[in-house]
Amino acid sequence: MRRLRPYFKYFRTVRGPIVAAIFYALLFGATSGVALPSLIKYVFPPIFDRTNGALPLGTIALIAGAIPLAFLLRAISGYLNSYYTQLAGVRILEAIRLDYFRKLQVLPLSFLQSKSSGDLLSRGLADTSQLQFTLTLLANDGVKQPMQLLGALGFLMWQAFTQQGVLMVLITLGAVPLTVFPVRYVGRKVMKRAARMQAQLGDVTSHFSENLSAAREVRAFGLEERETSRFASACRELVTSQMKIAKYAQALTPAIEVLSAVGIAGTLIFAYGRGVQLETFISVILALYMCYEPIKKVGALNNELKRGAAALDRIEVVLHEPVTIADPAQPVAVGRLRGDVAFEAVSFAYKQNEPVLRDVSAAIPAGTVCALVGPSGAGKTTFANLVPRFYEVASGRVTIDGHDVRALRLGDLRRNIAVVSQDPVLFNDTIYANLQLGRADASRAEVEQAARDAFAHDFIQKLPHGYDTIVGERGALVSGGQKQRIALARAFLRKAPILILDEATSALDSDSEAAIQLALKKLVVGKTVFIIAHRFSTIRDATKILVFDHGRIAATGTHAELFEANPLYRSLYERQQMSAV
Ligand SMILES: Nc1ncnc2c1ncn2[C@@H]1O[C@H](COP(=O)(O)OP(=O)(O)O)[C@@H](O)[C@H]1O
Ligand SMILES: [Mg+2]
Repeated sequence: MRRLRPYFKYFRTVRGPIVAAIFYALLFGATSGVALPSLIKYVFPPIFDRTNGALPLGTIALIAGAIPLAFLLRAISGYLNSYYTQLAGVRILEAIRLDYFRKLQVLPLSFLQSKSSGDLLSRGLADTSQLQFTLTLLANDGVKQPMQLLGALGFLMWQAFTQQGVLMVLITLGAVPLTVFPVRYVGRKVMKRAARMQAQLGDVTSHFSENLSAAREVRAFGLEERETSRFASACRELVTSQMKIAKYAQALTPAIEVLSAVGIAGTLIFAYGRGVQLETFISVILALYMCYEPIKKVGALNNELKRGAAALDRIEVVLHEPVTIADPAQPVAVGRLRGDVAFEAVSFAYKQNEPVLRDVSAAIPAGTVCALVGPSGAGKTTFANLVPRFYEVASGRVTIDGHDVRALRLGDLRRNIAVVSQDPVLFNDTIYANLQLGRADASRAEVEQAARDAFAHDFIQKLPHGYDTIVGERGALVSGGQKQRIALARAFLRKAPILILDEATSALDSDSEAAIQLALKKLVVGKTVFIIAHRFSTIRDATKILVFDHGRIAATGTHAELFEANPLYRSLYERQQMSAV
């Protein structure tokens, strides 16, 4: 319970439905705990008491009518209580999911890359759903059942005082506190296993999403059997832990029922000894039953609370993760940047003690076309990713126009940068919509011009629906080269002073690449451009080339200078010339 307290804030947004739910819960408790036993105790006996002659039929009908009426009131209040609880529940779920999703948008990439997407998916869908279930059960049974218990207990007390003395109640209630033991025992067992079960559910989801994203590899490498058996064992493990929970949770109800039978037996013996009348006895038994039912339900609620707490732990891993890459408290206000980029003694590591960039310094004045070359894994992509602050430097600083990137609002910084990543992703929408992501206020003419510049316009027009063609999930319905050209056009459209092209033309044939080279010459005028490319046809024309080797900048210069003086550069160049032949 205490564990869930911070989340009671979600109740605040659904105050209306919660108040309605509680009102009907009270009504439900009163009709169950008091009205039904009262019927038996006070209404029925006069009917069967013939000492004063038979009652008129009308009176009997009236009294008989009271029975369905009492049940109807109980049913309606129970129904409305459940309805409003459900309403509150789905709204709470919506709010939690939204908070979770919002958090995923701002968390650093490094955090997202440390988790599998299936795991994050499962936390956001399955665990939030468990939490919703817990919170609504709490709002529902947490009020309704104790109310029924109180009503029934009140009735019992009253009977005891007015009829047979206090003793009878004490005896009949003797078994009630005993039920606390099985409830607590089971609760502890469930708590331990619930966390494990939710984690396994995450595993199953991970397998699922990984398998779907690797559909091609599965077929190419004949992994169908292997994948299925891996998935089967993840499912089997889930079943095992689900059953471990069921083993305890399902034992609770029978245990409480046996205990309540003991209570009833005790009442019977005592009532017989005291010469209690039948109607009093039956009404007490009913009231007793009305006591045990809520105890059973509260016991089940206790299990749910444990499962909710376990789900919450998993959600909080994301909700409580610090947003390390965020807007500074006092950001420097900037509009359009010029694009003077500088790295000052920058070091960076994805994992501790495994430096990827070591003491890197470089000055790239505005308007420079800067090529990054080096063996794969040397740190080129990492270097480029530090400019839009996708990751945080470990030491040193990255500046643009003299401002540390950490001093700028993230929105301001990234508005000034257009990135075409190594593996560009398109959204499952039309080509036009995907292009317009580059700049929301771009006109149709500007979008088409950007597509022309990226040599995408012609192939787009030839598609059956032209610019309105849907590209499929992650752009699966267009070819790799087409996807790259759309991604390039999207970046051109941004008209940002800094352009980062990370192997942005790698999927193009050499003719298309040569054509884009021409277009780039025009487009990059006045911009700071970082180009990571393997083809030296692209690199040769750069005004400045940075040669990366094992996380350091081994040399800087123009093509002619480096070819002359840098053996690594020359060997990279010669290897490429050979393979190009
Ligand atoms: N997200 C990541 N998490 C951990 N290590 C990474 C990550 N991205 C890249 N690396 C590692 O950092 C090094 C540099 O990678 P990268 O900058 O992509 O090289 P390049 O672009 O020059 O091929 C490599 O050793 C790579 O394994
Ligand atoms: Mg790379």
